Amino acid sequence: MKILGMMSGTSGDGIDGALVDFKEDGEYSLVWHKSFDYNQEVFARIQKLMKPCSSIEVTLGNSYIAELYAKAFRSFFKENDEKPDYIAAHGQTIWHQPQVVRWDDIDLTGTLQLLDAPLLAQRTNIPVINNFRSADMAVGGQGAPLVPYADLILFGNLFPEDCLVLNIGGMANITAIHKNNGDAKVVCAFDTGPGNVLMDAYMQKNNLGNYDKNGTIASRGNTINRILEDFLKDSYFKLPFPKSTGREHFNINLLEKFDNKIKNEDVLSTLLDVSVNSISDAVVSLKKIIDFPCKMIVAGGGALNTELIKRLKRNLADSCSIHTSEEFGIPVMAREAMAFAVLGYAFVEKQPSNVPLATGASKKVILGQLSIV
Ligand SMILES: Nc1ncnc2c1ncn2[C@@H]1O[C@H](COP(=O)(O)OP(=O)(O)O)[C@@H](O)[C@H]1O
Ligand SMILES: [Mg+2]
Repeated sequence: MKILGMMSGTSGDGIDGALVDFKEDGEYSLVWHKSFDYNQEVFARIQKLMKPCSSIEVTLGNSYIAELYAKAFRSFFKENDEKPDYIAAHGQTIWHQPQVVRWDDIDLTGTLQLLDAPLLAQRTNIPVINNFRSADMAVGGQGAPLVPYADLILFGNLFPEDCLVLNIGGMANITAIHKNNGDAKVVCAFDTGPGNVLMDAYMQKNNLGNYDKNGTIASRGNTINRILEDFLKDSYFKLPFPKSTGREHFNINLLEKFDNKIKNEDVLSTLLDVSVNSISDAVVSLKKIIDFPCKMIVAGGGALNTELIKRLKRNLADSCSIHTSEEFGIPVMAREAMAFAVLGYAFVEKQPSNVPLATGASKKVILGQLSIV
């Protein structure tokens, strides 16, 4: 069975597609990975949708994201190419609210990934599995992170020792895998905080580009320790796991900490260190849970930020050896899309795929829903 995993994350940079072939004996292989990058007009509209917006924008946005996914699909496959059996599509998160809010006498949490799945199914003529986060939230989970189930399958048996899988997208999340007599088990997974989101927000706000390619600008700057320490006092970093976060918490408003006399390179160096230090602190906090030194596999667009990886390696030299997922045959931009293909396969096989330890859910549940054609 072939499943196309499709992912668009909090960076709003584009849609990643990973075609995964699942064999009956439980083996799987990545057939290919392709990216559909948004042009500047689409990029701007997605950034707008990710800010609080009107019900009209949400309604049309739902169709818009499906049309963009259909466009991405058409760019991935030529007319005569063999098509996948299913599309497993994440959609675009526009609000993620794992903390309880009370409306009248009703306690609520929620998360919304825009994507009109029946529309995408009709456009592509392929059944679509989507809405992966809701069932987990319905049983008290945070609906995130969902990648741990796939991490165990993709990376659990690569090494004899314990390993960490770090994704650096808009936000950063980590999965800790512990080995016990050769058996791999996810022992913890959570969002560490911002990945690229604050650096991207600064670049875009100052018309410097969409992101700091390879961290070149940050690498020329000096971190302002006073501001870095202020960032690291953020209440999110002190929360125990399970925990997840998003742009609702880490967003452009935090850039007010910098006055406009500070040089771009110093701002970006400081923001880079916010990510690097919060990730490093999270890793060190796992010392009670997994065995160190361990391996750490890094994926997501942030893995291409050479300055970020350099600083992470420096900070964690005593704790782990750091590798990109590329070294194990998984392109850094493919890992999350692959994870959603794996979650899609679990849905088809009627297998629960949330990891209650990671999301805080009260039980295991099947994630996703199906739109047929
Ligand atoms: N060459 C690069 N150098 C530095 N950062 C990069 C590079 N390529 C991608 N990125 C960062 O990765 C982000 C996209 O990563 P991605 O994994 O797609 O995140 P998301 O899942 O949030 O969409 C970009 O917004 C950018 O910040
Ligand atoms: Mg992306």
